[in-house]
Amino acid sequence: MFLWILDRYGYGKIIYMERIPEPELMDTFEQARAYAEADFDEPNSLFVNLFLEKFNDITITSTILDLGCGPADIPVRFARRFPECEIHAVDGSEAMLFFAKIRIQKEPPEIQKRIKLIHALIPTDSLPLNKYDAVISNSLLHHLKEPDSLWKTIKRYARKGAPVMIMDLIRPETRQQAAMIVERYSKDEPEILKRDFFNSLCAAYTIDEIKEQLQENQLYSIDVSPVSDRHLLISGRL
Ligand SMILES: C[S@@+](CC[C@H](N)C(=O)[O-])C[C@H]1O[C@@H](n2cnc3c(N)ncnc32)[C@H](O)[C@@H]1O
Repeated sequence: MFLWILDRYGYGKIIYMERIPEPELMDTFEQARAYAEADFDEPNSLFVNLFLEKFNDITITSTILDLGCGPADIPVRFARRFPECEIHAVDGSEAMLFFAKIRIQKEPPEIQKRIKLIHALIPTDSLPLNKYDAVISNSLLHHLKEPDSLWKTIKRYARKGAPVMIMDLIRPETRQQAAMIVERYSKDEPEILKRDFFNSLCAAYTIDEIKEQLQENQLYSIDVSPVSDRHLLISGRL
């Protein structure tokens, strides 16, 4: 539910529904399978295109870190777009990594050998490299109990000046709006996926909340802005 309150000048201000956290890991087999089989072509191509746009057709010849890689569709797209890069694709869910492995095996050996799947929980588990040349993450932030898990991991692992790009959902103002977004974009998807999408919208952060997180973590060179009716983009160089 959302509320209108009037401030002392009589102007209305929207109070968003409170965030409803969801479990961090997508670790049931059924949940991971529904996610892996869903069609995320539109947001995932948007993700790659925004990366190219934000970082001016950058060429990456070393290692990209993808946090919360899920079924690895985005790592595959990056491996195709940047033929000289390697990607460390990290997820805490073995079920998700099972589907990521199947996804990668469909690619030519040249792509397969450049994507390394890593079973690790952020921010506690350590990652193979000391520093990475770019950090990306799609739809992880809203899963985290503590958003600082993401900001601390980025500060720990991105080299100075590295491009950082995170896309996530924006929490709608009301549960009704969340339900409408689910119907608009996932009408024909299985129930389990629609349920997860609804829960994710309710667990997502607002742009103002993310601005505060960035300030508190002294990530002054990173900005946040909306990029679709349901997505926001957090990007900049560390
Ligand atoms: C909604 S999925 C997004 C997957 C992928 N990035 C994509 O865009 O298709 C979020 C993923 O983050 C993983 N995850 C959540 N919390 C995590 C944590 N603390 N450490 C590592 N992975 C995590 C989940 O298991 C899940 O696979």
